[in-house]
Amino acid sequence: MSRVKIMRKHIVAGNWKMNNGLVQTTTLISELKQQVKTSDAEVMIAPSFTNLWHAFEATRQDDIEVVAQNMHFAENGAYTGEVSAGMLKSLGIKTVILGHSERRAYFNETDEALAKKIDTALANGMRVIFCFGEELSDRKAGKHEEVVKGQLVNALCHLKAEDFEHIVLAYEPVWAIGTGETATPEQAQDMHAFIRNLFRERYDANVADNLSILYGGSVKPNNAKEIFSKPDVDGGLIGGASLKAEDFYAIVNAF
Ligand code: PGA
Repeated sequence: MSRVKIMRKHIVAGNWKMNNGLVQTTTLISELKQQVKTSDAEVMIAPSFTNLWHAFEATRQDDIEVVAQNMHFAENGAYTGEVSAGMLKSLGIKTVILGHSERRAYFNETDEALAKKIDTALANGMRVIFCFGEELSDRKAGKHEEVVKGQLVNALCHLKAEDFEHIVLAYEPVWAIGTGETATPEQAQDMHAFIRNLFRERYDANVADNLSILYGGSVKPNNAKEIFSKPDVDGGLIGGASLKAEDFYAIVNAF
């Protein structure tokens, strides 16, 4: 039996959401550049569309990847207010976050629309950070695994095994986002192991063991180490704490 070589990466990505204009973006990036990375984690930041170019230029020489928070599934056309994969690529952006629970809740993004966005991103050679997670009511009803499985199968399981080289997963229980309430490290580990197992069953050990699965939801400097110490947690998607350079790097260095 051939042994599977595990290559999965540690990633800490800061999702700035709808925060920071040009001046704050400039300031935060210069503060981030003063921080020292002592871990092996890949560092990403996701500013708003309007600041992507500036952020990209400002981090050109640095070990920080600038990524987008969203994109449309069409290549171009009459979609007022939307941004395409080609537009992101034209700036040099190589990674896009898709399926964040705020997009699902406030902008009606469905699994079907997300599957189309994923296909477009991959067709454009981009990497996707795909977010998903259950609501509090799902967890209380003991349906969290079923809900997460549905989100993953609907959006991702039409892909080929080799496509997963370009997919990063971000498990974000909705009840933990921006609430200060974090999943316990055990809850995160249990779900991440469940997810990895799902991909082992649907695909193979190679896909499962090489998938980076990030946890998101109120990760802070004081809880990151414990969450990241779990074997199936490969990093974090950080909201609130990514808006302060020191806190963000304390999390980056928690590996
Ligand atoms: P939070 O957000 O860290 O503020 O909970 C996480 C996210 O929405 O990605």
